[in-house]
Amino acid sequence: MRVLVTGGAGFIGANFVQQTVRERPDVDVTVLDALTYAGDRSSLAPVADRITFVEGSVADADLVDGLVAEADAVVHFAAESHNDNSLHDPSPFVRTNLVGTYTLLEAVRRHGVRFHHISTDEVYGDLPLDTPERFTADTPYNPSSPYSSTKAGSDLLVRAWVRSFGVEATISNCSNNYGPYQHVEKFIPRQITNLIDGVRPRLYGAGLNVRDWIHVEDHNAAVWTILERGRVGETYLIGADGETNNLQVVRTLLEIFGRDADDFDHVNDRPGHDLRYAIDASRLRDELGWSPRYTDFRSGLEATVGWYRSNEAWWRPVKAAVEARYAESGQ
Ligand code: NAD
Ligand code: DAU
Repeated sequence: MRVLVTGGAGFIGANFVQQTVRERPDVDVTVLDALTYAGDRSSLAPVADRITFVEGSVADADLVDGLVAEADAVVHFAAESHNDNSLHDPSPFVRTNLVGTYTLLEAVRRHGVRFHHISTDEVYGDLPLDTPERFTADTPYNPSSPYSSTKAGSDLLVRAWVRSFGVEATISNCSNNYGPYQHVEKFIPRQITNLIDGVRPRLYGAGLNVRDWIHVEDHNAAVWTILERGRVGETYLIGADGETNNLQVVRTLLEIFGRDADDFDHVNDRPGHDLRYAIDASRLRDELGWSPRYTDFRSGLEATVGWYRSNEAWWRPVKAAVEARYAESGQ
């Protein structure tokens, strides 16, 4: 099987490629990645000699057409992925998340190639705190940020291409991932690398916002489950029952680092900050038989801390610039 992985030099994509090479020697992987600030070829170093890497954009129609023509399936991770960045400049979000997805859909339509679209639970907006309510595939779309609205738009494009043109596509909407190779602009790696540097973690607002954490390897195992057993045209929500508020995450990290429980700072909140995400993954669990392996968040976090301690050369070159950008917003 020949799989084209877009965004394979990013956080989830690089983990997907590494896992695939490790566990599925029969799969031939080609990565298409524009190597934006979020892409790093060194995240693919452990498997570099076993994959094909192409630098370029998913919005480049000619390049995409040639690569899709050679593939049996496309797994589409490539995106601008950070909410805070989308509040400063939405334009690359529109180009990559909307135009890029459109470009890929036209190519898979022409060549009759199976497509899996990686999306996010943020398309559903947010939920109140302290209710049992969770997102399902029937929850109405209600995105809050430029990032999540472009992801919502890309999902709708996929649905329309399935219905109108018979494209063989599936969609997955996953909750917040954590694990190795995540960019230090994101919440957990930012706090881990701050703590390594002896800097106090930074909590937006009161820190009561809830995210439904899942280990990146569990997300990627679910993607393979959907590719192999998912129903074409279907949407699958991916989550591992990991609801935790940001304050609890910071307190757990402080404990892992042996620091005082109150050794953090509250900083400016994110405009439009979604309150709570929570996933009902029963379709994926019951129909396709997937279940997560990382069920203990604390030990997953400890392993992630260990990875950032051992891989300082990977994150150090970008850390100062990320912090300078946050400082401009008082965060
Ligand atoms: P990331 O920002 O770490 O990586 C994105 C990758 O896409 C980078 O390698 C970047 O170079 C590449 N890219 C960006 N624009 C491109 C373009 N025009 N053409 C080709 N490549 C391009 O993102 P991530 O956190 O790994 O997220 C991957 C996907 O998963 C995204 O679609 C995101 O919406 C989705 N998702 C992320 C999470 C999460 O918690 N991180 C949760 C659910 C869904
Ligand atoms: O839910 C899935 C989404 O999860 C993905 O679609 C996105 O691509 C991914 O970036 C992530 O979005 P969030 O906005 O939830 O992730 P982020 O890591 O930016 O923030 C997580 C929470 O932590 C959020 O409530 C904001 C808060 N936060 C973030 C940073 C960077 C802080 O309190 N302090 C911080 O320094």
